[in-house]
Amino acid sequence: MWRCHFSRIMSRWRPVTLLLFLLVSDGSMYLSGQRERSRLQKSRRDIRPNIILFLTDDQDIELGSMLAMNKTKRIMMQEGTHFSNAFSTTPMCCPSRSSILTGKYVHNHHTYTNNENCSSPSWQAHHEPHSFAVHLNNSGYRTAFFGKYLNEYNGSYVPPGWKEWVALVKNSRFYNYTLCRNGVREKHGMEYPKDYLTDIITNDSINYFRMSKRLYPHRPVMMVLSHVAPHGPEDAAPQYSTAFSNSSQHITPSYNYAPNPDKHWILRYTGPMKPVHMQFTNLLQRRRLQTLLSVDDSVEKVYNMLVEMAELDNTYLIYMSDHGYHIGQFGLVKGKSMPYEFDIRVPFYIRGPNVEAGAINPHIVLNIDIAPTLLDIAGVDIPVDMDGKSILKLLDTYRPMNRFHFNKKAKAWRDSFLVERG
Ligand SMILES: *[C@@H]1O[C@H](CO)[C@@H](O)[C@H](O)[C@H]1NC(C)=O
Ligand SMILES: *[C@@H]1O[C@H](CO)[C@@H](O)[C@H](O)[C@H]1NC(C)=O
Ligand SMILES: *[C@@H]1O[C@H](CO)[C@@H](O)[C@H](O)[C@H]1NC(C)=O
Ligand SMILES: *[C@@H]1O[C@H](CO)[C@@H](O)[C@H](O)[C@H]1NC(C)=O
Ligand SMILES: *[C@@H]1O[C@H](CO)[C@@H](O)[C@H](O)[C@H]1NC(C)=O
Ligand SMILES: *[C@@H]1O[C@H](CO)[C@@H](O)[C@H](O)[C@H]1NC(C)=O
Ligand SMILES: *[C@@H]1O[C@H](CO)[C@@H](O)[C@H](O)[C@H]1NC(C)=O
Repeated sequence: MWRCHFSRIMSRWRPVTLLLFLLVSDGSMYLSGQRERSRLQKSRRDIRPNIILFLTDDQDIELGSMLAMNKTKRIMMQEGTHFSNAFSTTPMCCPSRSSILTGKYVHNHHTYTNNENCSSPSWQAHHEPHSFAVHLNNSGYRTAFFGKYLNEYNGSYVPPGWKEWVALVKNSRFYNYTLCRNGVREKHGMEYPKDYLTDIITNDSINYFRMSKRLYPHRPVMMVLSHVAPHGPEDAAPQYSTAFSNSSQHITPSYNYAPNPDKHWILRYTGPMKPVHMQFTNLLQRRRLQTLLSVDDSVEKVYNMLVEMAELDNTYLIYMSDHGYHIGQFGLVKGKSMPYEFDIRVPFYIRGPNVEAGAINPHIVLNIDIAPTLLDIAGVDIPVDMDGKSILKLLDTYRPMNRFHFNKKAKAWRDSFLVERG
């Protein structure tokens, strides 16, 4: 944990970094040669790591969505760590997204952040000023947001903490939408080469990163690529509109298992689907996977850009979804918000400095862990009122070749969490 401690000191007392660097050099006999070299390189460059968060909208892990994502699997799973027990504490878009931003359970937001309270004046007054973006910007990061924000965000303001702000007005769309670009409204139609939102998020974020490193080579960048896929209306890029003609991974053991008298009220009253519903589930699965092919390209393009700019080794990439999804499970034709695994489990991968490649980490990680984790990566103190925890300590200790060897901190990790629903 010495590493994190050191980076915290560096960020709080930037003017004395050089002095600390000398102390480190003097104390180098305590470090292994390789560790010392990488510390020294980092100190010399004096640049904290870049952080890139890929967030998808409604992406399941239980219904096989990762089928569409071979590039992401290579970049994030084979070369990073897969958290196999990752969950959303509130399996609905706006509440989960607000929890991602603040690191808090929804019951600790004064108002439940759904429907009329999503992006509400109360949210803007009490919670938005404490998002991870505000903390990271204050500590010197160049912060940028691209894509879907909160479902009811209407584009009338730029939230605090974001240097670059390119956000979708209202809920997910791939065409025919409005963006708020740094306070200016920008309308988009439906020409694939200039309007497809997944590709705009990819292109704009890459351009921003390049530009930022050119203008401010010594400042770390934090970007969120908040993709709308695979949320409805599930419009695929033209080149992918015939893919997965016969995907059936959504037909899990609980598919069309109904009614369920032992479960909560809605499942007691939900009967088996009709053939027309089942046909619809097949179409929906196919369309969702198709939209994810463009997100897969997004991950690869950002990765290639980092390689080209020699920034990959100093960048953490995190990939996750706001919550899961169901397509026919327990007879529910489609949707989210149910307290079952298909809706609360999410894909969750991280790669970056000192993150084990190809590891599967079974610790429970949550959407509320994102904010504290990003602050920890940046060496910024984690506010005591955040409910989530930094997952960095899990990454330092867990190795697949050595899977029973946890340190004390890892042993003290959570074994339960709340799932909330209004
Ligand atoms: C992903 O890789 C598998 C195994 O190589 C292959 O069968 C499948 O077609 C690939 N999927 C896509 C979408 O490229
Ligand atoms: C929105 O917040 C108000 C004030 O806290 C509360 O009375 C209301 O029930 C909330 N609405 C929803 C949908 O949660
Ligand atoms: C956007 O929402 C704010 C409240 O957050 C409201 O004051 C404003 O009138 C809305 N603007 C538009 C264009 O809907
Ligand atoms: C970012 O932080 C700086 C320094 O604290 C502050 O002056 C600036 O207003 C902040 N920018 C945004 C967009 O919040
Ligand atoms: C976009 O808007 C145009 C013109 O109103 C309409 O013809 C088209 O169907 C819409 N496309 C989508 C994908 O919403
Ligand atoms: C994204 O950039 C590529 C070239 O790099 C271009 O072909 C494509 O049209 C762009 N897409 C959008 C939506 O801007
Ligand atoms: C498509 O799926 C159905 C049902 O799973 C199966 O019977 C059929 O053979 C499949 N068709 C192709 C072309 O794979």
